Amino acid sequence: MTPHLKLSIPRRTAAAAALALAGLLASAAPSATAAPAAPAPALAAPDIPLANVKAHLTELQSIATANGGNRAHGRAGYKASIDYVKAKLDAAGFTTSLQQFTTSGATGYNLIADWPGGDANSVVMAGAHLDSVSSGAGINDNGSGSAGTLETALAVSRAQLKPVKHLRFGWWGAEELGLVGSKYYVNNLPAAERSKIAGYLNFDMIGSPNPGYFVYDDDPTIEKTFKDYFAGLGVATEIETEGDGRSDHASFKNVGIPVGGLFTGASRTKSSAQAQKWGGTAGQAFDRCYHSSCDSSTNINDTALDRNSDAIAHAVWALSTEPTVPPGDIYENAADVAIPDNGAAVTSTVTVSGRTGNAPAALKVGVDVKHTWRGDLVLDLVAPDGTAYRLKSASGSDSADNVIATYTVNASSETANGAWKLRVQDVAAQDTGYIDSWKLTF
Ligand code: TRP
Ligand code: ZN
Ligand code: CA
Repeated sequence: MTPHLKLSIPRRTAAAAALALAGLLASAAPSATAAPAAPAPALAAPDIPLANVKAHLTELQSIATANGGNRAHGRAGYKASIDYVKAKLDAAGFTTSLQQFTTSGATGYNLIADWPGGDANSVVMAGAHLDSVSSGAGINDNGSGSAGTLETALAVSRAQLKPVKHLRFGWWGAEELGLVGSKYYVNNLPAAERSKIAGYLNFDMIGSPNPGYFVYDDDPTIEKTFKDYFAGLGVATEIETEGDGRSDHASFKNVGIPVGGLFTGASRTKSSAQAQKWGGTAGQAFDRCYHSSCDSSTNINDTALDRNSDAIAHAVWALSTEPTVPPGDIYENAADVAIPDNGAAVTSTVTVSGRTGNAPAALKVGVDVKHTWRGDLVLDLVAPDGTAYRLKSASGSDSADNVIATYTVNASSETANGAWKLRVQDVAAQDTGYIDSWKLTF
């Protein structure tokens, strides 16, 4: 049987990118009878040796000590830090490139390291800022994230990982001057390249001396990947709230790339409830040396650094090695259908033919309805025999625009072939819209 109406031009909005990432992690649909072999599960990540991560921190401390006590943008200690990381990656078989930019009258550098192979159209990226402030060596901020990311990249090389997706790592300059390096990277990526980044993982401060375990609340798939990892360790997590947008993930998020990350806390104070679940000292900052001269080799909690480094590797492995769910056959109707205000239901038809048997138990119904008050709308999927499946009810208070969603319907009692309809009715006055397109994925 040949596939039918295929979507040929993928529209990559932020939402689509998020769905793409989620789709990659979807587990194979359970099925009772002869089904194609289920895709292999994601490979398990190796344990990241804490000693290796700490050796990178020792080196970054030495670089700072030899260069006036810091590794700040425009200072010799920054370039020496970049050279150190780059040499390790080059020796491990990465394709590296130095990207130069100028800010505050000095040259800055981003280091980009690509692991050869994987699907170039679907990139998983992990990064950390490598610059410190000028007042200290920046070992927690952000030697920790830089070292954990570096050691994960080196573990990819040791494993000679063959991910399904393409893996890329980044070390950013001038984060402390306002996310300058990561903004420069993203701004200089052509739109086509941006859209290939399925997810960006950010690691800024992962070894705070009085640590919390914070997960960014951004892309749901990335967030769940981290939360599940810590849950498996029996370590509670909280959502990161100490300044959303205060690190390099914001540069990616701002152009619609799904992001996530980890954080162990900066100048905010650990509460007694937090000290109860994580240990450490209540009433004290997560990092008392944040942005100060004491952010040195001793300003690290080894347990936090170890757990977070392992979590980086877990996420990199999980997000890049889970095979792509093979695309189903897509049947779409992209003709616009006006929806009368507070009026009769309208339908748009998709005709399925050439299939055998029934529709799937997890039939995906992708809906793109433009409307100025979506709470007005009732949506049903109507099977060829007239059976209606409610996709969405009216909810007058939901004033948001548009219904752009994918619903899953158990259509296993319906014959696959025939005329399927999306039925939409607007049940309240004033706001209006139209069916832009909809599709069924078998
Ligand atoms: N990015 C900040 C710095 O480098 C630290 C920071 C504060 C942070 N709040 C955050 C990092 C939240 C990640 C998430 O100084
Ligand atoms: Zn930082
Ligand atoms: Ca209306």
